[in-house]
Amino acid sequence: MNEFPKILSANWGKPNSAGIETYLASGGYEAARKALGMEPAKVSQEVLDAGLRGRGGAGFPAGRKWTFMPKDNRPRYLCVNADEGEPGTFKDRDIMRFDPHMLIEGIIIACWAMQANNSYIYIRGEFEEPAKILEKAIQEANQKGFLGGKIFGKDFNLQVWVHRGAGAYICGEETSLIESLEGKRGNPRIRPPFPPQKGVFDQPTTVNNVETIASVPFIIREGIPAYRKFGTEKSPGTKLFSVSGHINKPGVYELPLGYPLMNFINEVAGGMIAGIKLKAVIPGGSSTPVLRAEECQNVNLDYESLAAAGSMLGSGAVTVIGEGTCMVKLLEILTHFYAHESCGQCTPCREGAPWAAQIAKRIHEGKAELNDIDVLSSLGANMMGRTICPLADAAACPIIDFPKKFREEFEAHIRNKGCPQAKPFPVEFK
Ligand SMILES: Cc1cc2nc3c(=O)[nH]c(=O)nc-3n(C[C@H](O)[C@H](O)[C@H](O)COP(=O)(O)O)c2cc1C
Ligand code: SF4
Repeated sequence: MNEFPKILSANWGKPNSAGIETYLASGGYEAARKALGMEPAKVSQEVLDAGLRGRGGAGFPAGRKWTFMPKDNRPRYLCVNADEGEPGTFKDRDIMRFDPHMLIEGIIIACWAMQANNSYIYIRGEFEEPAKILEKAIQEANQKGFLGGKIFGKDFNLQVWVHRGAGAYICGEETSLIESLEGKRGNPRIRPPFPPQKGVFDQPTTVNNVETIASVPFIIREGIPAYRKFGTEKSPGTKLFSVSGHINKPGVYELPLGYPLMNFINEVAGGMIAGIKLKAVIPGGSSTPVLRAEECQNVNLDYESLAAAGSMLGSGAVTVIGEGTCMVKLLEILTHFYAHESCGQCTPCREGAPWAAQIAKRIHEGKAELNDIDVLSSLGANMMGRTICPLADAAACPIIDFPKKFREEFEAHIRNKGCPQAKPFPVEFK
């Protein structure tokens, strides 16, 4: 861990950090008590004014999303997205392992704000240990009266359920998550209607990421100025970053938003492994545009700075790529992943992703022609914005970007009739 201000990771490393007594000793559940003394609309407004943006990838303001829930008498639901399937993203897992009560307290506050009486935590199937920790934490919260009936003496009931996913990346997409939760195949739905109008069991539903919800107790307990003390004007607060790749200290780090990317790589995360030079960074998960080393120099880890550099903060998954990495092979691997995970409903995604994976493989093996590089670009362009869900856009991103930013490398494979390097990676990815 690091010496930066800690909101989300404040309890990590304490003995029995997942236990309710540890959480209570750090002021836990005081924010929920305070929130339930406030008007629900005021709670959403505080979260909006604090500037908290969704940490699942798109960065939509959390407080605004909550206000989309209709004010009628239908039952309503909060679904917490703990699917965490994006390559390179592994930060929500640590919230659930090390401080599950922070998430549960955030759920209580969010459900009060939206007047939802049921919340599902949809957790990635492989997360067996975090799922067990969450189950135990929910039981503890029930025993203390923080969940169940008449919470904090209010006429407010809340049940929280853990629902295990079955191992498909697409089930992290919010409408696919809802389908899967209903026991169906996880196919994304056509929108409109959006989940607040017609979500789980056709009722009003909000889907939020684990980290988004876990950020809420601090905002309510400490207030907006305390949260805005960290980060930048437009990107306030802190964020968890999961860093992997050719880096000495891969892991999860909490940083104030706006922290310089190169300081993160060179200082916080221990610098490049084995003295390798930096070649590129995928800053926000595999669905965000890659940056060449020279494009990373004055970039900060916040929504605006990364957008200005032509990429995105995404889920905060920083993949560090060292010199000696074959970008054609990396594209083949990434595109193969998306092809495998496509649900198959839309032709551009179902056909485009495997086709692009095949072309990347052919280029890597030296069986392609120069024209294939342009075919890749036009394939990617035809996948963008033409499908039911954004998985196709995510897949198209490296298909378009890699040949554009590393054209010389793609051409070298074709001229050389194969990969010019003896092996595709200088050292194994960590
Ligand atoms: C293919 C795909 C996979 C996704 N996987 C996740 C995921 O694992 N976790 C997550 O929070 N959001 C994921 N999202 C984004 C969700 O659809 C949704 O925007 C998010 O959960 C909203 O939460 P937030 O507003 O708190 O960020 C995914 C989106 C797509 C298109
Ligand atoms: S874009 Fe791909 S994953 Fe999304 S609905 Fe269409 S086929 Fe399925």
